[in-house]
Amino acid sequence: MTIAPNAAELNPVELAIESRQSMREFLPTPVPKATIVRLLELASRAPSGTNTQPWKAYVLQGASRDALVEKVCQVHDAIRADPQLAADYREAYDYYPEKWVSPYIDRRRENGWSLYGLLGIGKADKDKMHAQHQRNFRFFDAPVGLMFTVDTVMGRGSLVDYGMFLQNLMVAARAHGLHTCPQAAWNGFAKVILPHIGAEPDEMLVCGMSLGYADESALVNTFRTPRVPASDFATWLD
Ligand SMILES: Cc1cc2nc3c(=O)[nH]c(=O)nc-3n(C[C@H](O)[C@H](O)[C@H](O)COP(=O)(O)O)c2cc1C
Repeated sequence: MTIAPNAAELNPVELAIESRQSMREFLPTPVPKATIVRLLELASRAPSGTNTQPWKAYVLQGASRDALVEKVCQVHDAIRADPQLAADYREAYDYYPEKWVSPYIDRRRENGWSLYGLLGIGKADKDKMHAQHQRNFRFFDAPVGLMFTVDTVMGRGSLVDYGMFLQNLMVAARAHGLHTCPQAAWNGFAKVILPHIGAEPDEMLVCGMSLGYADESALVNTFRTPRVPASDFATWLD
């Protein structure tokens, strides 16, 4: 079933929402600073419990971006060479469940194998998998890398607020011809990232994000993910 009606029939808000997808190959075209500021300001129109506005954003471009890329890719390679090192790199919060159950594990697998299948990466292609995973830590070549943190004193509700902020940012990006990829892949590397961005000791890494002009001709960016229909996840109580 197609959830998107004909694009020509969509109003601008619907079009921005429908055309957002995680892009994984970007052009080197720079993004003007004024545009990034505008996106952050639009994102901050998100609601938050008692208007606490718990978001803190770090914008990495140029040398600061490139240096972080090199640092994290080095660690990523080192962990591959010595998997025991992974124990030193832990996420600050459980983004994913400890124990996967159906239907979530099925959707996760379908998502992963569909993407790898599109790219011609098979289950035994460990080198290709590592290389594709590492594209995360190159911000998929996007010129702008974003890191988002929250003060650890804040409650779990702040992560709800954060989701709204991040979605606002990603949808607003569409209004400027830009695309994004939200990235939890960075979370395990917080101990490299937080000092690099100059975060305070009480800040927790929420996630990273790639931002830029997508290479619309790249095969990886033709990946359009399905959704279960509302009739499957909504319960109507009359
Ligand atoms: C908080 C968050 C973290 C994510 N982390 C990653 C990531 O590290 N790398 C990646 O390639 N995609 C990541 N994704 C993208 C999801 O895989 C994607 O949103 C999902 O498959 C649906 O596809 P769509 O965004 O194209 O609609 C993340 C999405 C969210 C919301």
